[in-house]
Amino acid sequence: MRYLMEVYTDERAQQQRLEEDVRQGLTARQKSLPPKYFYDRAGSILFERITELPEYYPTRTESTLLGEIVPGLFRDFFPDEIVEIGSGSSEKTRRILDAVSAGGRTVRYVPLDVDRQTIESSAARLIRDYPALSVHAVVGDFERDLPHVRPPSGRRLALFLGSTIGNLDEPARRRLLAGVRGLLPDHRDRLLLGVDLVKDVKILEAAYDDSAGVTRDFNRNILHVINRGVDGNFHPEAFRHRAFYNAAAARIEMHLVADSAQHVKLGRLGLTIRFRPGEGIWTESSYKFTRESVESMLATAGLTLSEWHVDPSNYFALVLAAPA
Ligand code: AVJ
Repeated sequence: MRYLMEVYTDERAQQQRLEEDVRQGLTARQKSLPPKYFYDRAGSILFERITELPEYYPTRTESTLLGEIVPGLFRDFFPDEIVEIGSGSSEKTRRILDAVSAGGRTVRYVPLDVDRQTIESSAARLIRDYPALSVHAVVGDFERDLPHVRPPSGRRLALFLGSTIGNLDEPARRRLLAGVRGLLPDHRDRLLLGVDLVKDVKILEAAYDDSAGVTRDFNRNILHVINRGVDGNFHPEAFRHRAFYNAAAARIEMHLVADSAQHVKLGRLGLTIRFRPGEGIWTESSYKFTRESVESMLATAGLTLSEWHVDPSNYFALVLAAPA
């Protein structure tokens, strides 16, 4: 059997979590919304456009770097199974699948993503393009559903690319990496992790406040998602996009700032949210790393750095980690 899918989250469960997250986030003193809600249809298209912006270096830097290190990576490491956390369209993964399945070796690919449609359509394309591949897809939330991933049948490579880990704060990163460690039972298993690096503030801030305003639209789109999800009446254009680097915390912060006083009704929650002029909603943190901070975060999860690959400008790193 070449294709199997297990579903651990559905629209009802996701709707319920969205309602809880919105209630919690918007009734707190510092209002916030979880960045996972950026990615509806429109938000995913806006993010694709971000990855093509001249200012937004992470995606293209990681992609070039991946192309460069893949041959060396799989010279003497032959995984039987690849688990990808937050697989999305699996486009970057093809570089790895090309190398790993060369010579007709059979490989099992386990993509984990919240969006069932995304997984289904990318799995269908992969099955078509890689005759030696079987896909065992898991529809779920990577912050909750890693324990559902079945034990591997051979050597395993886990992938967590795109600096998605940068969206998680310290405790959440720790939990996630502990979960990833649980997916790597054998000392020969590996994790390939993509992380964005600490660098010049101007370069960081431009990447999150581009001149074409795509990141502004992406940020405001979360309010469209909330309007639809809880019958809200946010006016997204009444909120200003604000992105800055918080050096003490080593993170980009994105906020949506109400320039005037606003009352927003959230019909499904029976709530009215009030904004003072200048009050914001914290919508995203994007943490930036150093080799040292990566090593210490891996160590807390029982992992150790085995290879450190960076681009010539030191903008982005691909980290190969092994069980400690
Ligand atoms: C998908 C989380 C890696 O933090 O750079 C891009 C999301 N936000 N521009 C990032 C994002 C604004 C992105 N990640």
